[in-house]
Amino acid sequence: MNRNQPPPDRQRAHPIRRTRLPGRWHQRLVLDDGRTLWLRPIEPADAEPIRQTFSLLSPEEVRMRFQHPIKELKGDLLRRLTQIDPRTHFALVVAEPLPPGQALVGAVARLAIEEGGRRGEFGILVSRFLAGKGLGHLLMRQIIRWARLKRLEEIHGDVLEENDAMLALAESLGFRRERVPDDPGIVRVRLSLRPPTAKDLSRTNPD
Ligand SMILES: CC(C)(COP(=O)(O)OP(=O)(O)OC[C@H]1O[C@@H](n2cnc3c(N)ncnc32)[C@H](O)[C@@H]1OP(=O)(O)O)[C@@H](O)C(=O)NCCC(=O)NCCS
Repeated sequence: MNRNQPPPDRQRAHPIRRTRLPGRWHQRLVLDDGRTLWLRPIEPADAEPIRQTFSLLSPEEVRMRFQHPIKELKGDLLRRLTQIDPRTHFALVVAEPLPPGQALVGAVARLAIEEGGRRGEFGILVSRFLAGKGLGHLLMRQIIRWARLKRLEEIHGDVLEENDAMLALAESLGFRRERVPDDPGIVRVRLSLRPPTAKDLSRTNPD
């Protein structure tokens, strides 16, 4: 196999052709409908395009991502989302193949390491113009990869209980669901990243 091509997502209904670009997390993506996009870490210059295109998101998409309505993305929140501390935060975008600042951003996934340094919380949004193309799955896999490199023991996210798409995506990646006490509308999805102990293995494989 060509060293510049990560394995294609063959098993998926919407395979994404990926080619590595210079930079550890940079890839050129070609979707099954021919659209070409770049996967890359978020840059402070993405703030303005993200602010401008936030209004294109439906109230439902925003509510699913943030669990409450937000009219505008600006100020502190926008800064926190786009100017991240790489020691404790990781954020990738899927954007037009243009320099940051000029490129429209169609999807963002992030992970924030929590106090104590052992767990991380993720958030993800793939806009409906790009949804159902395998990008959510690809972004979550990259988030998990970063979490493993950081030797986190677990990552989790809070998902509205009616968010079938995210719950199905999380489940397909091995996340387990649990209730959040005092918050009946939220499901917490958790993925344990600890290597299985001999005891765990003997439970799943009695041989
Ligand atoms: C949830 C979300 C990230 C999925 O992104 P996506 O790029 O559309 O997902 P993918 O195309 O990679 O699909 C991955 C899996 O998700 C599930 N899925 C995606 N869309 C679905 C839908 N509309 N209904 C049910 N399952 C769905 C499927 O299991 C799918 O796997 P499959 O294609 O093998 O069947 C996207 O819909 C989104 O950003 N929603 C709004 C924000 C949000 O809900 N964020 C989560 C809280 S942090």
